[in-house]
Amino acid sequence: MANFLVLDGITKQFKLDKGQVQALEDIHFEVAKGELICLIGSSGCGKTTLLRVIAGLEKQTSGRVLLEDKEIETTGRERGMVFQEPRLFPWLTLEENVAFGIKGRVEKKILQRIVQQLLEMVGLSDFAKATPKQLSGGMAQRAAIARALAADPQILLLDEPFSALDTQTRSKLQTDFLKLWQSTHKTCIHVTHDIDEALILGQRIMVMQASPGRITAIFPVSFSYPRCPDEPDFIALKKKLRDFIPPVF
Ligand SMILES: Nc1ncnc2c1ncn2[C@@H]1O[C@H](COP(=O)(O)OP(=O)(O)O)[C@@H](O)[C@H]1O
Ligand SMILES: [Mg+2]
Repeated sequence: MANFLVLDGITKQFKLDKGQVQALEDIHFEVAKGELICLIGSSGCGKTTLLRVIAGLEKQTSGRVLLEDKEIETTGRERGMVFQEPRLFPWLTLEENVAFGIKGRVEKKILQRIVQQLLEMVGLSDFAKATPKQLSGGMAQRAAIARALAADPQILLLDEPFSALDTQTRSKLQTDFLKLWQSTHKTCIHVTHDIDEALILGQRIMVMQASPGRITAIFPVSFSYPRCPDEPDFIALKKKLRDFIPPVF
C-alpha cells in the first residue's frame, strides 16, 4: 500500500519576536507500509520539525498528515519516536524504562515477556536491571529503540539516533537496526545528516534543503543490503547526493 502514510502539503511557520521562520514548505510525500526512508539534510533544514509534525508533537501551519487515510491530529501509540539523545529516565532500570509506556495497559506477565523480548532484540538482555548511568551511549540508544518499540507502533520516527555515537558504535548500531527493521517490518523514517548512513539504511533517500525547509530530491536506492561504501553503486549515488547537500562550514 503506497499511501500508508501521506504528507499532503505540509507547511510550518514559527513566529519569532521579529518576523517568522518558514521551517517547512509544501511537503508532499507518501510512504509505503514497511518502508525504510532516510530523510537527509543539513542542520536547520527542518528535519526535526517534520518528524515532530508526523509524531503529532508539533502542529503544522497547513496541510495534512494521513495514516491509513485517517488524519493525524495528535500523538498516538501507533507512532514511536527515538531522539538524538536517549531520554531514558535515570531513576528507572532498563526494563522499567522499556516498560514505561505500556505499564498498566497489559497484564504483568505479558508485559514482562514483551520487555524481555525487546531487550533481547536490541542485545541488552544482560542489562535489564541496570540503570541508564551504567550504560554506554550506544547501549542507551539501543534501550531507547526498545522503549519506542514497546507499544508495538506501526511507524518508528528516528531523529538522528546515532549521530552522537563514535564511528564504530554507530556502524554496529546501523547494522543491528537494519536487522531489526528486516525482522519487524516496521515503517521507519530515519533522519540523519550523514550521507553514508542514509545510503547504508534507506530504501529511499529524501533530501531536504533549508530556508524554506523543503524536499528537493527523492532517490530510490536499488542495490541490496548489506551495503558497502566501497561498491561502485554506493559511490555513484553518494556523489549525486553530495550535489544536493552542501558541505558544512
Ligand atoms: N520551536 C521553534 N521556534 C522557532 N523556530 C524553530 C523552532 N523549532 C525549529 N525552529 C527553526 O526551524 C528551522 C528548522 O529547524 P529543525 O527542524 O530543528 O531543523 P533540523 O532538525 O533539520 O536541524 C530552523 O531554522 C529552526 O531554527
Ligand atoms: Mg534536528
